[in-house]
Amino acid sequence: MIQNPERYTITAALPYTNGPIHIGHLAGVYVPADIYSRYLRLQNRDVLFVCGSDEHGVAISMKAKKEGITPQQVIDKYDGIIRKSFSDFGIAFDNYSRTSAKIHHETASDYFRKLYENGDFIEEVTEQLYDVKADQFLADRFVTGTCPKCGNEEAYGDQCEKCGSTLNATDLINPKSTITGETPVLKSTKHWFLPLDRYDAFLREWILEGHKNDWKPNVYGQVKSWIDGGLEPRAVTRDLDWGIDVPVEGAEGKKLYVWFDAPIGYISSTKEWAQREGKDWTPYWKDKGTKLVHFIGKDNIVFHCVIFPAMLKAEGSYILPDNVPANEFLNLEGNKLSTSKNWAVWLHEYLEEFPNQQDVLRYALTSNAPETKDNDFTWKDFQARNNNELVAIFGNFINRVVVLTNKYYNGVVPTPNELSEVDEQTLAELQAYPAVISSSIERYRFREALGEMMNAARLGNKYLADEEPWKMIKTDPERTKTQMYVALQIAAALSTLCEPFLPFTSKKLLKMLNIKINNWNLEFEDWNLLPAGHQIGEAELLFAKIEDEAIQKQIDKLEATKTANLAENKKAEPQKDLIQFEDFAKMDLRVGTILEAEKMPKANKLLILKVDTGIDVRTIVSGIAESFKPEDIIGKRVTVLANLAPRALRGVESQGMILMTNNAEGKLVFVNPDADGVGNGETIN
Ligand code: 2FM
Ligand code: ZN
Repeated sequence: MIQNPERYTITAALPYTNGPIHIGHLAGVYVPADIYSRYLRLQNRDVLFVCGSDEHGVAISMKAKKEGITPQQVIDKYDGIIRKSFSDFGIAFDNYSRTSAKIHHETASDYFRKLYENGDFIEEVTEQLYDVKADQFLADRFVTGTCPKCGNEEAYGDQCEKCGSTLNATDLINPKSTITGETPVLKSTKHWFLPLDRYDAFLREWILEGHKNDWKPNVYGQVKSWIDGGLEPRAVTRDLDWGIDVPVEGAEGKKLYVWFDAPIGYISSTKEWAQREGKDWTPYWKDKGTKLVHFIGKDNIVFHCVIFPAMLKAEGSYILPDNVPANEFLNLEGNKLSTSKNWAVWLHEYLEEFPNQQDVLRYALTSNAPETKDNDFTWKDFQARNNNELVAIFGNFINRVVVLTNKYYNGVVPTPNELSEVDEQTLAELQAYPAVISSSIERYRFREALGEMMNAARLGNKYLADEEPWKMIKTDPERTKTQMYVALQIAAALSTLCEPFLPFTSKKLLKMLNIKINNWNLEFEDWNLLPAGHQIGEAELLFAKIEDEAIQKQIDKLEATKTANLAENKKAEPQKDLIQFEDFAKMDLRVGTILEAEKMPKANKLLILKVDTGIDVRTIVSGIAESFKPEDIIGKRVTVLANLAPRALRGVESQGMILMTNNAEGKLVFVNPDADGVGNGETIN
């Protein structure tokens, strides 16, 4: 970990421009990165915070196909929407670029060429998946199949989002083209591979030894298991028609792999910023005194901790990230956020429902950030955070201070008399907050940091509640002056301390107090954050109560989405091709009973069942573990396809199949022979 950095380069994952952004993006990546950057700026550090739109890759081509428009139209549309959302929510990038920008194409091409000329790639003709019907090679999201590592049936050709593994498309079990639904064939094609195996020793020393104690356990653990699993060469070029041309001879028609060009986007965004500001970009990427921090979601860990560092190391003149504080995922009301299922709170829609309440969402998302494990966003929690914390504590304190100062002193900060012990203690406690909050932020614990900031507001609230200046004014107005002076200092401190988390609130509060923002350490000498005689402004409500109706409206909206998704799922699948009676008769379907059930170790979906089929008791591995607990299905009557050829699943031979279907709610249920007196082994025909 770099000590006393001269400057900071902070990056936030470049979002794909194949859709708008939602609360999961904000909570996992952009709000923490923004808090960190704002906090550092308040310390007058040299900070560069960059991001941009990730506009290449299959995600974009697929969206274009789906909407019947060109990839260029897709990226233009979503780049605009995403930029606006970031700006609306106060994500204060120093530069937000696009990977379609000329400067990025040049930077990425030059980077590739340099590694190519250094001999850092392996050039090889290999067999890749090819969709004959679409006349196209299938890479990345153009192909899905079963992940060989975790059994997820919806893994992409380059990555399994469930277990985080990066994959080669040819690793997928039962691959299927997402363009035509066809099973691909293998076809030879030439590509350039980054031989990750050559970086094994470097990565072990740099991360496994060098960052054992300062990287988050979730990040370190994933990287370790990846390295321990054995690094292999990885193709960094693709046979696609959308992306950056591979800039070497013999690569006509080929494009750079999106995960080769996207992280270089951080560098090109820096260059774009430097050109605009008349600065030199190189120290931000090449000077050893620079602390480089990548903010990402957990699905991006391997790219930022293994592949991009290998690229940086290969190039040779760049610094490496000091930390990659990746977050886990945020769920919404108990279900995974999903763009395709519209299971999301879209940022642009949120602002229509809760205008000017960006900070409430920033607050709720940070309080509940998925820093160490996946977390759930619920509208009830959002409401409670607003009403019980922002309104009842922060807002209430500020409102009382400003209203009373206006009432008693026409808004002029009173001259304090001698401080009591409680006053001294309160101010001493207040003075400790910048360091306390810093310590959490420096360790990327933003929830904890926010909690401490709220504790500073609690300190103010408690001070007023205990001191009751509104009573004191009747008996000892001189003492009231001191009380109000102390309370005003807390309010002033909060206007700075809340800025990284609640920038819109900070602005309002500064205006109310009629002061400029302080630096992070608050220069507390003599407690003159708000000097006696200073004129403050009028009270303005910082936060408004959110009523049950507004929350119910959001919950109803999600319910409607659920219903629409169910209706969509329930659309009967088209009938398959006709078969003859003889085909059907080949299937040996029987009634059976589940005798035993246990979870398959290290597999989320699989149960190992012992089933009495009437002919024998056999083992059947069934993908129902996410829907049924083993203990709940013992004794269950089931329909078994008995003569399905045995198949090994994770080393256990499955000797048949249990028939399942979905009920009206989309839940998995057994096709259940519940007629009385039907014995095991009875055939179904
Ligand atoms: O997962 C994603 O949304 C990617 N577009 C992130 C890219 S981060 C980077 F390297 F640019
Ligand atoms: Zn997987």
